[in-house]
Amino acid sequence: MKKIVVLTGAGISAESGLRTFRDSNGLWEEHRVEDVATYEAWQRNQQLVLDFYNQRRKQLYEVKPNAGHYALVELEKKFDVHIITQNVDDLHEQAGSGRVLHLHGELKKVRSTIDENLVYELNGWELKKGDLCEKGSQLRPHIVWFGEAVPMIEPAMELSAKADIYIVIGTSLNVYPAAGLVYYVKKDTPVYLVDPHAEMLQGVNNLTVFREPAGTGVPKLVNQLLKSVP
Ligand code: APR
Repeated sequence: MKKIVVLTGAGISAESGLRTFRDSNGLWEEHRVEDVATYEAWQRNQQLVLDFYNQRRKQLYEVKPNAGHYALVELEKKFDVHIITQNVDDLHEQAGSGRVLHLHGELKKVRSTIDENLVYELNGWELKKGDLCEKGSQLRPHIVWFGEAVPMIEPAMELSAKADIYIVIGTSLNVYPAAGLVYYVKKDTPVYLVDPHAEMLQGVNNLTVFREPAGTGVPKLVNQLLKSVP
């Protein structure tokens, strides 16, 4: 089977009701990154950070995958599909995708503040002050904050370099190192971009753009790819 690697961002979950970050009405219009998504913010005001992620986690329990997520599951019928997501939601997994690599963490998990290897599934949506790890430190959201290392970037680079087909869905490609992954793709590998506000990707040759929402664009692309294999 040909290997398809898919890089997704907040846009693929927009039609499920989860806000993106940088669109009009995006999360970063209402919250300052410095207040809720850095380690310094965590040291300064834990309750503000806990409230921000608790609200997002509460909402995650209220939404479902959309046609874009489900279409990628269909693709697994004829292709070896690997998803690299910047999203911290679990909508790819809920839709049934088998291989999902989270670059920026997972909202339904929490971890120790003093030992990043101590990661736990959170029961329910609320993480409270006083919820401690087995070493006695306050539990924090299992999220990669701005300025923190991205532990899964190496496997993501290796996967991108092995792709026979590369698909980019719903990301503004503003945040590195994730935004640089498309440049690890072998030259002349077909690259597809699905985004209603898509712009051409500098330095990417074999690019096809679906300038539309994931809910319609991804099923269209998937049908095309599935038809291309006997
Ligand atoms: N379908 C597809 N794409 C969409 C849709 C949709 N229905 N709606 C919006 N988009 C596109 C926008 O045009 C934009 O290009 O999704 C993209 C969302 O971009 P961002 O809000 O910047 O989200 P993302 O690229 O995932 O952010 C990257 O930044 O804030 C950090 O850690 C956070 O993982 C996140 C990272």
